[in-house]
Amino acid sequence: MQLSDCRIVNLPKITDPRGNLTFIEEQWHVPFRIRRVYYLYDVPSGGERGGHAHKELEQLIIAASGSFDVVLDDGAQCARYRLDRPYFGLYICPMIWRELVNFSSGAVCLVLASNLYDEADYYRDYDEFVREAGKRNRTPQTGDLKLER
Ligand code: TYD
Repeated sequence: MQLSDCRIVNLPKITDPRGNLTFIEEQWHVPFRIRRVYYLYDVPSGGERGGHAHKELEQLIIAASGSFDVVLDDGAQCARYRLDRPYFGLYICPMIWRELVNFSSGAVCLVLASNLYDEADYYRDYDEFVREAGKRNRTPQTGDLKLER
């Protein structure tokens, strides 16, 4: 679970002079069962959301309208993605700190999530997140206790 596991997903786009259509099917476009959908809207222009990480939750984030930037951080490295098309999704794996910044006026941020809302799944303190991410990603050292099963 690191930054390289996060990626842009190209969603299907059915172009039509009457208006375009994009669809998302869980088996093909998201690598998790979709158990919750929520959306952010009426975010003031230039506004910011996020500022947390999840222990287990996986998400796909889409700019359904307008644009915003997503800054991802796995405790070691950062990456910035600009979402400005409704046919691109950003897959975010667990244990990634995210900031959503630079919202355009009228932007709608659509989020598909792998589980129901659970406050216990959040890291809201950045220093705590970095400590825990470091522990999970640490390579075993000589002298570490090895559990035999
Ligand atoms: P939060 O996840 O911190 O928002 P964001 O990351 O988009 O800035 O959630 C803000 C508030 O909304 C918080 O009090 C929890 C509540 N909330 C729910 O009740 N259900 C949900 O599905 C989500 C995402 C948030």
